[in-house]
Amino acid sequence: MTSGSELARAISGGTRLYGILGHPITHSLSPLIQTFAFQHHHLDCLYVPFPVQPDRLPTALAGAIALGICGLNITIPHKEAILPLLDEVSTEAEFIGAVNTVDIRDGRTIGYNTDGDGFLLPLQALHIVFADTTALILGAGGAARAVTVALLRAGCPELTLCNRTPERAYRLCDDLCQRFPQAQINSMPFEHAAAAARDHSLIVNTTAVGLHPGDPQLLPETAFRPEHVVYDIVYRPLYTELLQVAKQRGATVVPGIEMLIGQGAEAFRIWTDRTFPTLAIRHLVQPLI
Ligand code: ATR
Repeated sequence: MTSGSELARAISGGTRLYGILGHPITHSLSPLIQTFAFQHHHLDCLYVPFPVQPDRLPTALAGAIALGICGLNITIPHKEAILPLLDEVSTEAEFIGAVNTVDIRDGRTIGYNTDGDGFLLPLQALHIVFADTTALILGAGGAARAVTVALLRAGCPELTLCNRTPERAYRLCDDLCQRFPQAQINSMPFEHAAAAARDHSLIVNTTAVGLHPGDPQLLPETAFRPEHVVYDIVYRPLYTELLQVAKQRGATVVPGIEMLIGQGAEAFRIWTDRTFPTLAIRHLVQPLI
């Protein structure tokens, strides 16, 4: 049982409130992760889930501002819809077309997308040299946008997009080429992904394939080599089929839980300018996956 003094430390008249807007929201790990980080730093802050129906988003945001809420994470189905409601949106979030973090200062709302920077954190921890990295990206949706922008901003000189619906990959490729004219960016139909893998050092799955048992295998095992870093943004299961096969073939693998923690770490940095207790949070979250 929590003692009176523990509770007094956890909440006061000056407690700053944070939360996550989504629908449904009960599955979210963010309240646990962010609360742990606030407590780790002994900050007088609370982080709570807010189930917000799609048609209530403008009212919910106005309410958050009126109530003096200091920051929000934004998840499905609001990540795109929130953009026009904000006072300011970062260039990156604008390009991605989605916001997952809002900082509220003096009643002004500033939207960010921390998926890309969060994606990079585990690669930085592996001391990947981005200038020497050639990336093969599976998928061309919202997550692929965040991941590709982050890699290109980090200095990745060559990137190939493969998507089930090729037109979507062509479109993302065009957008990226305009923004990063110095990089070599290509797109190709998914059937060529396995062959293309040998010419790339980093392979990233940005699709949801692997989330459900019985999902198709995106790449044959022969596509993977020990030199590869293989990153799957799917975080349930902890090690997807793709990662298991890549690991058996000797590749270095990065599970999606790292990006989940990374995007949270970046949101926390925006709000508090503090570092995330990543190791402890990984131990906290892993058994829940
Ligand atoms: P997110 O924002 O999570 O990226 P999204 O924008 O809907 O979601 O994009 C989902 C991505 O997963 C797309 O690249 C999608 O391919 P299509 O553009 O062809 O739809 C990809 N995807 C989903 N299911 C897939 C499957 N069974 N096989 C291959 N790709 C799949």
